[in-house]
Amino acid sequence: MMLVSPAFGGDVAAPTLREAAGHRLLIGTALSAANLDDPALTQLVATQFDCLTATNAMKPMHLQAVHGTFTFEAADRLVAFAHAHDMQMIGHTLCWHQQSPAWLFKDERGRPLPREVALANLKEHIQAVVKHFAGKVKGWDVVNEALSESPGPDLRDTPARRAIGDDYVVKAFEYAHEADPNVELYYNDFNIEQSFKRERTLRLIQQIRAAGLPVNGIGIQGHWLLDSPDVSEIEAGVRAFADAGLNVSITELDIDPCPRRHGTAGADLDAQEQSGMDPYKQGLPDEVQHQLAARYAELFAMLLKYPQVKRVTFWGATDGDSWLNNWPVRGRTNHPMLWDRQCQPKPAFDAVLRALQSKSVAGADLGK
Ligand code: XIL
Repeated sequence: MMLVSPAFGGDVAAPTLREAAGHRLLIGTALSAANLDDPALTQLVATQFDCLTATNAMKPMHLQAVHGTFTFEAADRLVAFAHAHDMQMIGHTLCWHQQSPAWLFKDERGRPLPREVALANLKEHIQAVVKHFAGKVKGWDVVNEALSESPGPDLRDTPARRAIGDDYVVKAFEYAHEADPNVELYYNDFNIEQSFKRERTLRLIQQIRAAGLPVNGIGIQGHWLLDSPDVSEIEAGVRAFADAGLNVSITELDIDPCPRRHGTAGADLDAQEQSGMDPYKQGLPDEVQHQLAARYAELFAMLLKYPQVKRVTFWGATDGDSWLNNWPVRGRTNHPMLWDRQCQPKPAFDAVLRALQSKSVAGADLGK
């Protein structure tokens, strides 16, 4: 498919990311159902990307806010859009401590439910959702962000863990696999590529495998900054997971050029600030624009060395629809993506396109 872009000379058909990636790997994006009402955005997405993730529509809070009442409309719209444009759909996410209804793991007074009740709720949710989308979704982020970043236990203190115990992650994989043995199952998290979180990630994967369950891939979210982490650190993570026999995906890629108070990458939703530095309201200075392009280029050149890297999904498509306009600082003007607010390609787009073009022929046909 070709995208006719004025930035490439009006009537000259320009290559797309999807074409440039060829069979080497999948290039994905993430949308909300509301984004489907934006014709410029949907035209861009339909031509540039191989696959789609729902930014919010498949999260437990959106599918089953009220126990026993499922609301699949928004998610079904996204699936229909993806399939109408020959894109695959990625499921995100079956179990997460954010955007999850309280009733799943807590009683009316906020206390952890008894283990058996919480397990029944988890099973019922996962199995209804996985069965609803069976045959329509390539794979699921079964559990999102289970791992702690603090010393002590590997798992984060969450309502699921409090009610069920440490085996809730294994149980989530078991329920998903039972509901659809053909769907791929992934573990997804942020900062797991970095040395401080890598070992506990591998321990968790080992536990799931020891229970006889498949882990078809690991999702490194990829909410990164302009200057951290180093690409060498990300590469060490990719290599460690590949060496453990895992397929690797970057599942929520964006590179934030705005300053952060704490200066670290990651994506902890609880770290949202009501106000903060907003230096690029009038646009991104050329110098920073080129730093952003160079960082994307370096990242893709590294990722493309590893045949185990099967997918790179951007968390959004244009600067205008990025969640980084609202996180970690609410309401600032951010510029992390490959297209600007007018859906025009930025230098970062050219950088990624060139990286893909120079590597895609080397990749085997991986059955994209
Ligand atoms: C974000 C969505 O993009 C926002 O619209 C929502 O308000 C909060 O969640 N890690 C994840 C994603 O796994 O689900 C998050 O998505 C971003 C961080």
